[in-house]
Amino acid sequence: MSETIHLNLRIWRQKNEGDKGRFETYDMPGVSTHMSFLEMLDVLNDKLIKENQDPVAFDHDCREGICGMCSMYINGRAHGPLKGTTTCQLHMRHFQNGETVTIEPWRAEAFPVIKDLVVDRTAFEKIIQAGGYISVSTGNAVDANAIPIEKAKSDEAFDAAACIGCGACVAACKNASAMLFMAAKVSQLALLPQGDAERKVRVLKMMEAHDDAGFGSCTNTGACEAECPKEISISHIARFNREYVMASLGTEVTKK
Ligand code: SF4
Ligand code: FES
Repeated sequence: MSETIHLNLRIWRQKNEGDKGRFETYDMPGVSTHMSFLEMLDVLNDKLIKENQDPVAFDHDCREGICGMCSMYINGRAHGPLKGTTTCQLHMRHFQNGETVTIEPWRAEAFPVIKDLVVDRTAFEKIIQAGGYISVSTGNAVDANAIPIEKAKSDEAFDAAACIGCGACVAACKNASAMLFMAAKVSQLALLPQGDAERKVRVLKMMEAHDDAGFGSCTNTGACEAECPKEISISHIARFNREYVMASLGTEVTKK
């Protein structure tokens, strides 16, 4: 395989939330196949800055698949063509010489575009503020093994905790629902004894914050699971729904 490829980039440019936005094309010869996708955008931006043009705004932080910031659509797929991979972990060897690569921000009413590829995900913060926390008594840290937890439960809670809050599930959903994100947070807490104190109010408050933020309803299409870079299972949505119904009825929820 050649060490470099020549790409034609089609990138969404939008000055601010009020701007209509449009695609602009950029010729990118000599892209190293060893670069990450974000490094390729860095090279483009260096070039744009040298030419006194406005660089493309995009979000990133860890570049290790942890923070969830590097959210963008690449050729119609959230985080690009590779399953279970964030944009920052995607490498240019997965693109073909001469390919046109279309790059867009998330499209969802609850995630307004701030600039170019950067969207405002404050709506996720509001859901977490509403119920994504646990109450802890102050004092010395409890010994790590003081509360025994079954292996199967801790594994499932750990899988749910892998959600990085990137928002791909919302962007991929035709209803722009944030159910997978919310269900991952609820599962993580509902499966562990530490999450018991707020168990009933959590789901109710989070659902209210979800709807207030303008996210849509879940119709179980599975698009969220297919595009999630952390492969969070939609079975967590089933747990969320169970928790929600029981909390609405004021009934004790049995842990499953
Ligand atoms: S559930 Fe997956 S797609 Fe949705 S925010 Fe979490 S990591 Fe991202
Ligand atoms: S930059 Fe942090 S997950 Fe991609």
